[in-house]
This record gives sequence, C-alpha cells and structure tokens, in this order.
Amino acid sequence: MKGVILAGGLGTRLYPLTHATSKQLLPIYDKPMIYYPIQTLVRAGVDDIMVVTGGPHAGDFIRVLRNGRQFGVRHLEYTYQENPEGGLAQGLGLCEEFVNGESVAFILGDNTTDAEIRPAVERFTGGAMVFLKHVPDPERFGCPVFSTEDPLRIERIEEKPAYPGSRYAVTGLYLYDAQVFEHIRAITPSGRGQLEITDVNNAYLRSGNLAWEELDGFWSDAGTFESLYGANKYWAEKSRTED
Ligand code: TTP
Repeated sequence: MKGVILAGGLGTRLYPLTHATSKQLLPIYDKPMIYYPIQTLVRAGVDDIMVVTGGPHAGDFIRVLRNGRQFGVRHLEYTYQENPEGGLAQGLGLCEEFVNGESVAFILGDNTTDAEIRPAVERFTGGAMVFLKHVPDPERFGCPVFSTEDPLRIERIEEKPAYPGSRYAVTGLYLYDAQVFEHIRAITPSGRGQLEITDVNNAYLRSGNLAWEELDGFWSDAGTFESLYGANKYWAEKSRTED
C-alpha cells in the first residue's frame, strides 16, 4: 500500500502563525506536526510515501523531511498542488501515477493520532475505509448519518453540517483502492469551490464499498488555535508519562 500525506492548504485559521511557514511544520510538542502522520504510516508498514505540498512555503518541507530515511521511509516523493485550496480530493488526485494501481493510505498532514491503523491496512482488500471518532464538535468535519433501521450502517456523510446527524467525525485518515481516482474525476467542486473528500466517500457509499471503524486512540486535527493547543497538550503529557 502506498501512502499520501496532504500538506498543502493555506492554514488561514492559524494566521499569524502560518505567515512564515506551513501549518504542518508548526510544533506539536517536540516535533513538527507532519512527523506524526509520517510515523503513523511507517508504523502501519507503509513506507512509500508522497507528500502533497502547496502554498507559499512548500520548499520548507524538504529541509525538514529530507528523503525521509530518518523516519524509516523507504521512498519519499513530493508534489505541489497549484491551487492550495482546491480541496482534499484534488490534492489526492495529483497522486494517481504515484499510487500506480495499488491501494493508498491517505492522511491529512495536520492530523495526529496514536491509534494503530496497521490491522486495518493489513485487512484492507478494496473499496474505502474511513475511521470515525466521537467528538464534541462534529459540525467542523465530515459527519456520518446512520440508518434508522440499521444503526451500524452509514446512510450518508455530510460535510460540516449545521445540524450534525451524529456525534462522529470522519477523521483525516482514509484507505482507498485505486478506484478513488475514478471517483475524484467524477466529482465537481462544492459551494466553497473545493473537490471534497466527503463527495468521494459518498460515491463509495453509494456503490456499497465504504467500510468504517472507530479509531481507537487519541485523534485531533490541529487546524484551529484550540485544536493545535489541545494536540500539543496531549502529546506533551503522553511524552511525560512515557519517560
Ligand atoms: P484544512 O484545514 O481544511 O485547510 P487549510 O489547511 O487550508 O486551513 P484553513 O482552513 O485554516 O485555511 O486542510 C486540512 C489538511 O489538508 C491540511 O493538512 C491542509 C491540507 N489541504 C491541502 O493539502 N490542499 C487543499 O486544497 C486543502 C483545502 C487542504
């Protein structure tokens, strides 16, 4: 399985922190943020990785990550998303040649987790897999709505709903088969002008090929001051208790 980390975007919600560098290079306790998704992939046995950069500070990634050997990455590639806000699905769409017909573990560069996705990676046989997490603020994320007849079946996923249909967020970790690139080609930009990963997930859902599981462990994005602070606090405390 290949790995893709999405590390473009503008990080406008973190201005002024992101005026001088990319959000994914800001510190989470003692490491640049992007170390965490890289380590999540490497721990899952995924060591052939593409980093999608974008925006004005894309060059900073090479100085920090170099060729990835220090993380146990066997092969590291970079690409550049010309529209840094074209959407998560547009960023993944740039990686079709790199993925080359295999399956792909796709992680947002501003998400940190200590959950192990290795079992899911090893079991994955095709379709799509999303990882859900119970959160206090599902309206900030893609949010699954479950069937009333079968409470384990996702009926649809709503992007940033004003009135969330559940208390779950679709986290920024996904497993896809190579069909994902067909789905990305078939979707059109949303009201905010982005190719939405939620539309891709709903396409898998409609064809009966979307599985889900609950992410077992800490998970947070770090896209707002509050979540950036919360992630720092979690990883600092975890490091202290492990010493
Ligand atoms: P977001 O937090 O949704 O977007 P952003 O990073 O641009 O931040 P803001 O809304 O504050 O301006 O992005 C989630 C992750 O995906 C993050 O790692 C950036 C990345 N991303 C891309 O690489 N390309 C894109 O087109 C978008 C929208 C995000």
